Amino acid sequence: MELMNIINVNKRYRIANSSLKDYLTKERQYKSVLKDINLKIFKGEILGIVGESGSGKTTLIRTLMRLTEPDSGQAYFQGQDIFKMSKQVIRNTIRNQFRMIFQHPDAAFNPAFTVEQIFNQASRQNGILKKSAMNYEELLSSVRLGYEFLHKRSHQLSGGEKRRVSVCRAILTRPSVIFADEPTSGLDLHLQHQIIDIFLRMKKDYNLTIVIISHDIKMIERICDRICVMYQGRIVEIGDKKHLALGQRSHPYTRELLRCDLGVRKVRANINSEILNYNSLKDKNTNGHGKCDYADLCDLKYLQKESRRCFTCIPLLKEVKSGHHISCHFI
Ligand SMILES: Nc1ncnc2c1ncn2[C@@H]1O[C@H](COP(=O)(O)OP(=O)(O)OP(=O)(O)O)[C@@H](O)[C@H]1O
Ligand SMILES: [Mg+2]
Repeated sequence: MELMNIINVNKRYRIANSSLKDYLTKERQYKSVLKDINLKIFKGEILGIVGESGSGKTTLIRTLMRLTEPDSGQAYFQGQDIFKMSKQVIRNTIRNQFRMIFQHPDAAFNPAFTVEQIFNQASRQNGILKKSAMNYEELLSSVRLGYEFLHKRSHQLSGGEKRRVSVCRAILTRPSVIFADEPTSGLDLHLQHQIIDIFLRMKKDYNLTIVIISHDIKMIERICDRICVMYQGRIVEIGDKKHLALGQRSHPYTRELLRCDLGVRKVRANINSEILNYNSLKDKNTNGHGKCDYADLCDLKYLQKESRRCFTCIPLLKEVKSGHHISCHFI
């Protein structure tokens, strides 16, 4: 069942400060961070988002949480467009239904609060009765933290402990969706497995929907039902995890990611004289418009006769197999 439908979401950040403003064209004062994002999230699934650093993964989920405002687009949840909801509706409903595990847990906690107060605040926001300390103890022990942690403040926690407290806070109120931004980074392998097991249990027991961002492709492959690959603000591929494996038909960037993960060395295509032509084409398109974002790095283009299209036309995300979408002119 469809839980969220995200349509044509765009977001750009202003990058030029006042001293640069006079020297740059209006277009170059901004950086597009999300470009025409179209995505459906289904109830009870675990969706993994992978992609290079800076490709817009965090911005995407912050936008869905309404922590960052998009420039355009719609995101439907239970028939309503989240981007059109008032601040109050967002506070009262969306913040309870959606929970986020922040990439940087330092910024996620009020430094004046103890862990118990952090949990109480989350319960209050959700309108549920304050949980007993017993419940909290159980919750903490599921991530191998003792009862004494309830009385600690965030500056008294290590990075990994903060991350585990974030996970507890997110699952405490049993939301509909958890957006987990690199929930296992900085944790030892054993703890990573424990956190993943908690997610899998929550999904099984409460049909919870989880969106996980991670650079750990093996973990994403292990636990996710579908995988979404982002590159420079665009979704370049999305599909079942069985579609996204080496040897399968997939986007050149996805193949590169999988190859790096397996430590397989890239076999460069034979570079021929046509490259010179590509370079001259590239120069004409230095503003980055109307070309595939991956064109400069892609190997596939060398193998294609009509590859100048990569430098003159943005590839759209198209369905190559049921439920499997790729944005490449040649796949
Ligand atoms: N508030 C902001 N103002 C200006 N630019 C921003 C802002 N937040 C993010 N960006 C830029 O937007 C781009 C995408 O950032 P984002 O945090 O979404 O990347 P990411 O895919 O989560 O990367 P990582 O894997 O490193 O966490 C980056 O180039 C970043 O510098
Ligand atoms: Mg991020």
